[in-house]
Amino acid sequence: MCGIVGYVGCRNATPVLLNGLRKLEYRGYDSAGIAVLSKSSDEIVVKKSKGALKFLVEKITKEVVRTSESMSDADADRRFSELVGKTGDFIDGCVGIGHTRWATHGEPSDLNAHPHTNVSGSIAVVHNGIVENYGKLKSWLQSNGIVFKSQTDTEVIAHLLNYFYERTNNIFNAVLETLHRLEGSYAIGVICRDFPDRLIAARKESPLVVGVGNGENFIASDVPAVLEHTREVHFLEQNEIAVLYSDHVDLFNSEGEKIVRGTTHIDWNMDAAEKGGYAHFMLKEIHEQPSALENTIRAHMLFGDDGKPSGLTFSKEIEPERFRELVSGARRIVITACGTAYHAGVVGKYAFEKFARVPTVVDVASEFRYRNPILGEGDVFIVISQSGETADTLAALRLAKSKGAKVIAITNSVGSSVSRESDFVIYTLAGPEIAVASTKAYTTQLACLYMLSMMFGRERGIIGDGEYARLLGEFAAVPEKVQQILDEKAAVQKFASSQFNKSKIFYIGRQFDSASSLESALKLKEVSYMHCEAFAAGELKHGPIALVDPDTLVIAIATEPPLFEKLASNIEEVKSRRAVTMCITQDDSGAFEKCCDEIIKIPATESAFESILSVVPAQLFAYYCSVLRGNDPDKPRNLAKSVTVE
Ligand code: M6R
Repeated sequence: MCGIVGYVGCRNATPVLLNGLRKLEYRGYDSAGIAVLSKSSDEIVVKKSKGALKFLVEKITKEVVRTSESMSDADADRRFSELVGKTGDFIDGCVGIGHTRWATHGEPSDLNAHPHTNVSGSIAVVHNGIVENYGKLKSWLQSNGIVFKSQTDTEVIAHLLNYFYERTNNIFNAVLETLHRLEGSYAIGVICRDFPDRLIAARKESPLVVGVGNGENFIASDVPAVLEHTREVHFLEQNEIAVLYSDHVDLFNSEGEKIVRGTTHIDWNMDAAEKGGYAHFMLKEIHEQPSALENTIRAHMLFGDDGKPSGLTFSKEIEPERFRELVSGARRIVITACGTAYHAGVVGKYAFEKFARVPTVVDVASEFRYRNPILGEGDVFIVISQSGETADTLAALRLAKSKGAKVIAITNSVGSSVSRESDFVIYTLAGPEIAVASTKAYTTQLACLYMLSMMFGRERGIIGDGEYARLLGEFAAVPEKVQQILDEKAAVQKFASSQFNKSKIFYIGRQFDSASSLESALKLKEVSYMHCEAFAAGELKHGPIALVDPDTLVIAIATEPPLFEKLASNIEEVKSRRAVTMCITQDDSGAFEKCCDEIIKIPATESAFESILSVVPAQLFAYYCSVLRGNDPDKPRNLAKSVTVE
């Protein structure tokens, strides 16, 4: 949902800003812009362009990135970096802000691109979020004679800053006054010609990180944008303001009172945020799943002297006493999330009911938050969010807390709003997920849910000693089984090359597999733009089968042996309507051979855990279809990685 960056230091700001924006393009990519306080003219120079970041770089350097049609992507990448390196020759200055946009108010265009300025161009602002009362503010500013250049909500911030600056002659006070009048969400970066030594940043709801360097400081919407410069950061808290100078950073609360807080050290290295030889982040992240799962599982698994798994612990997240209280008091588990994280929650529902025998409901956060939900004593509330900043998920979390529920968060983002506001936090150790389509975050979310549900089952006496040891042994082996699937990816690639032009694709499955179907279908929609739906297999005959014709591909996920026969009958039903059929299964009894045109084999494990395995071929299928259709899987149209607006 838009990415913002800012720099103050001794280096030329322009390439620093553009390189930072490159790391944030996953947050929005319909236009980009920068504003730099030029040393030579003492004015703020603004450059903006509709479309991907490369168009902005081309505009600044007046050179093209792709010099010939046959240029490879890798060469185009290199040339892009080369041109970014030259941008400092065109705009000098050591203080600046930048933005990559995901349009909310106003179509993607040069004019609507950020930064926005006051009328004289002496103040520039970049913004991520939505100013909900912008209509009222705009009318008021217009009645004061301001003529707006763009259709954005953000432009009101620039004019309000100007209004208060004219009255206070102090840019910090102008920021404070302006923020007090904004409703909605924001992360902003502000520079002012009259204060060339500083950059001011603030946040409410939308995330913002301050990178603390040596003789230089940075702001960014997300950590990867500052990682190449520093690993010391401040995660700005709600309503905080930061004033960055080259040699220090001051933090303030919303009343302008100083706050003293140490920095947080980021453990990831740069490699984690780079493509590392893969054509796309999505492919890299699919391949990182064995290690991401291993890290996530090992963080909670105990091993005996014989090296075998001997137990699970969440004691780092929830003290054993409180965990026991949670478990014994749990009357119901309520899981809430959005998108892929919601799909993880659907798998979680099956896991909690199977392993812990606790009634579990799962709901999308955008519905939950407006339903006046019934929550009470004994409800354990679980929110799942990769980014930890999703607006609907946060609202659901706050609502659950206000009703007295204990909240457990499963998130990938240390320091995120979700992690800060929950009672207990379980981290997925997936590392940074850059591709918009979530892959390794999903499977590590599943890992946390399985472990939590087994712990609940163990504590409630549902899982006995022998069964616990068997389950843990199976679970510990899941990462290497994911690796086996990746080693056989050529079969999925080949299948994708024969199916990527299908007009309709359906995923079907039963129980855990119907949950996996939801995620598999979402993946395909997101990156290939093919029309794909997921159905509980038994539901086909109640309507959806009317859609089936020879141009339909039906992919069955089959990992529940007691239901194989039923599922095979469902596949027969679509096959007899001449659909192409494919099955993802661990079965080697031949149950699906007759009814399926293609079978992708996955390794066998405890059937409940197969959900972590069965989604991997589906992720690969989505990735290959996307590439075969000429899309950029890392930046699917109309989507953004972190949805910080409603
Ligand atoms: O950061 P979150 O996990 O809260 O994000 C939730 C969804 O926006 C996210 O999973 C989205 O559906 C992804 N694009 C899925 O690939």
